[in-house]
Amino acid sequence: MNRFKVIAVGMGPGDPELITVKGLRAIQRARLIFVPRSQDGEQSLALRIAREWIDPERQQIVELLLPMTRNADKLMPAWQAAADQIAASMAAVDVEADTLIEGVYLLLGDPLLYGTFTYIWAALAEAHPAIAIEIVPGVTSFAASAAQGQFVLSRMSDRVAILPASYETDGEALRQLLADFDTVILMKVGPVLPQILTALEEMDLLESALYAERVGMPEEQMAHGPDLKALKNQRRPYLSLLIVKRDRTSS
Ligand SMILES: C[S@@+](CC[C@H](N)C(=O)[O-])C[C@H]1O[C@@H](n2cnc3c(N)ncnc32)[C@H](O)[C@@H]1O
Repeated sequence: MNRFKVIAVGMGPGDPELITVKGLRAIQRARLIFVPRSQDGEQSLALRIAREWIDPERQQIVELLLPMTRNADKLMPAWQAAADQIAASMAAVDVEADTLIEGVYLLLGDPLLYGTFTYIWAALAEAHPAIAIEIVPGVTSFAASAAQGQFVLSRMSDRVAILPASYETDGEALRQLLADFDTVILMKVGPVLPQILTALEEMDLLESALYAERVGMPEEQMAHGPDLKALKNQRRPYLSLLIVKRDRTSS
């Protein structure tokens, strides 16, 4: 049997009531609470969601430094260092030799949807294969946004696409996506929101989109239909997404 286990827990998008029962139990059992730390605030938000369930007398919070960059030369060593830090923190827990030591890795939404854990998982598997891994799924940001905005994502044979807007989506790409899919979910949309909304207006689809920012958090902002026009010239934060429907009669 493995002595060490890391459980990646999807914390949902922000509302602590959207943690799963399984995730909550894993958090409460854990000796160690691992949280990614970067400059975008995501790490502290995952911890903020979990705070009320953590007992600082019994549990140790370990922050793992992860740079906010797409530069693989910086990211690879950071993931390896985070994996080493996880292994070292677990080895340092002072318990009897055959006791299982569990740590949870907290992150927003679902762990396997654009989550940092996927990289750390690979680094752990390579350098510390004796550490067992478990994944507890979470409510994704787009599922919570659709629920909050009462926006139907798909029906019957609708085709749904999920992609990161800030990487490659311009007006032309969006036009093509909306030719191929009934619903398009654009993650990481905030920094490119003006271009996306301009393109939607040109396609006469501005009023059939839902914008959600920091959904489930005290700072939540949602905009739908005519309200979206007010955001047309604004770059918004990274923790935002846009859901666009080709057929505006279906929501
Ligand atoms: C690194 S990805 C993480 C996705 C996350 N694992 C999930 O399941 O939703 C970050 C992107 O998720 C979206 N996101 C995460 N939390 C959000 C929230 N509370 N409100 C709106 N968008 C959110 C945004 O599009 C953000 O740019």
